Amino acid sequence: MTDHTFLLGTQAVSDAGHLEIGGCDTTELAQQYGTPLFVMDEATLRGKMRALKTAFEARRPGTEIIYASKAFPCLAMSRIVAQEGLWIDVASAGELITALRADFPRERIVFHGNNKSSDELEMAVRAGVGRIVVDNETEMATLDEISAAAGVRQPILLRLTPAVDPHTHHLIQTGRVDTKFGMNIEGGGARHGLETALGYENLEVKGLSSHIGSQILDADFFQLAARLMIEFLAQAKAELGFVVQELDLGGGLGIRYLPEDAPPSMEEYCSVLVGTVETQCQKHNLEVPRLAIEPGRSIAGEAGTTLYCVGHVKRIPNVRNYVAVDGGISDNPRPALYEAKYFAVNASRMNEDESETVTISGKHCETDTLIVDAQIAPPQIGDLIAVFSTGAYNYSMASNYNRFRRPAVVLVNEGQSDIIVERETLNDLLAHDLVPERLNPGQSSTQGSNS
Ligand code: LLP
Repeated sequence: MTDHTFLLGTQAVSDAGHLEIGGCDTTELAQQYGTPLFVMDEATLRGKMRALKTAFEARRPGTEIIYASKAFPCLAMSRIVAQEGLWIDVASAGELITALRADFPRERIVFHGNNKSSDELEMAVRAGVGRIVVDNETEMATLDEISAAAGVRQPILLRLTPAVDPHTHHLIQTGRVDTKFGMNIEGGGARHGLETALGYENLEVKGLSSHIGSQILDADFFQLAARLMIEFLAQAKAELGFVVQELDLGGGLGIRYLPEDAPPSMEEYCSVLVGTVETQCQKHNLEVPRLAIEPGRSIAGEAGTTLYCVGHVKRIPNVRNYVAVDGGISDNPRPALYEAKYFAVNASRMNEDESETVTISGKHCETDTLIVDAQIAPPQIGDLIAVFSTGAYNYSMASNYNRFRRPAVVLVNEGQSDIIVERETLNDLLAHDLVPERLNPGQSSTQGSNS
C-alpha cells in the first residue's frame, strides 16, 4: 500500500484513488483545464501567510511581512496578499503593474532591483510606492532627481550585503561579498552609501535591507546575517549619528521539496530572527528597529502542484524507464538551472504500490529531465503525474521554449476551482512576430541586399 504521509495541507486521496487538492479531484481538473496545469491551493497560500503573521505578531508585533511576488506574481495572488494584510515586493515594471492593477495598496508596495531603469523608478515614485530599496549610489542620484521632479520625498531602504554564504545553490546566493547585489558592508561601501544617501534632499532613508539567498534550510545563516546587520546599525549610529528605524531582513526561508527535507518551521525562523535582533540591539545599546521580512518561496512554494499527462513510457531493460510528460523545461526550468529536486506521484493511482522507478522527462527538444528516479505507481498512457512544491519560481520562470504555450494556473479552494492565469494560445505566441514587407511572397529574395 502507498504511504501518503508526504501529503500536505489540503492534499488528499479521493475514494477513486486520485490525488485531491483543495477538495478538487486532480484528474477532473486536468480534464476541465488541460495539462500541464499549475494548481494553486488557496488554503495553503493563506495558511502560510497567516502562520508567518501570527509567529511575528507573537514575538515582535509590528513586523511587516512583505510577499516577494517574483515567486508567483499575478493579479489574483496580489489580491490574496492584500486581503491577508501583507505588503508586496516587486522587482520590475511588470511586477509593479501587476500589483497596481490589482489595486494593491500603494503604500504597502516595496520596489526592489539591482539595476532599475529611470522609467521604472519614475513609475514607482509616481505610483506612490511605500518603499524603494536602493541598491547603489548611481540609483540614489537618479532617484533623487526623479523624486524632486515629482515633488516627492521618497521613503527608501538601502540594500546592504553582509558577507554571509548560505549553503544553498551557488546561483541563488546573494549575500556574499562577491555579488552584484547591494552595497557591501565589508570594505566600507555600505557606510559610504548611507552617508551619501543621507545627503539627498528628496530621499528619506527609513532603514536598511538585506537578502542573503534563497531555499535556506539552516537557520544559523539568518542569525549570522541579522547579527552583521545590527553591527552595521551600531556603526551607523556611532559614526554618522543615524538611527535606523526599519530593518528588512529579506526572504530565503526554505521549503520541503522532498519528503526528507526539513526546513526550519516558521516559528523557529521567526524566533531566530527576532531573538538575534533583540539580543544584538541590547548588546549595542540600540532601539530595536521595526522589522520586515520578504518571504516568497515559503508562501507560494508548497501551495503549488503541477499536473502533467503521461504521453509515452519508454522502458529500456536494465537501464531506465522514461516517462514522457507534456511539459518540462518550459514550465519548470529549475532542475536544469539549479539541479533542483522534486517529488512526484502518479495522481491517477494513489492507492497502488509505488513499485516503479522512473525518470520523468519533458517533451522539449533537449534532455529536459524533471525528476531522476522517481518512485511511482506504474504509469499507463493518459495517467496524471503530479509534481509537488512547484508554486514558487515555476510559473514565474516559465518560458516559451520550443514555442510551448505557458500553462494555465487554477486556484482551488473547498471544491471550487477558478482559472487565475489562462493558458496561452497559439495566437499569443505569434502576437509579437512581424514580417518585413520584403519577405512576403512574390518579393525577390535578393531585394534590398544586392540592389
Ligand atoms: N527579497 C529579495 C530582495 C529577493 O531577491 C528574493 C528572492 C526574495 C526576497 C524572496 O526570497 P525567497 O523567500 O523566495 O527565498 N529563481 C530562484 C530563486 C531566486 C530568488 C531571488 N530572490 C529559484 O528558483 O530557486
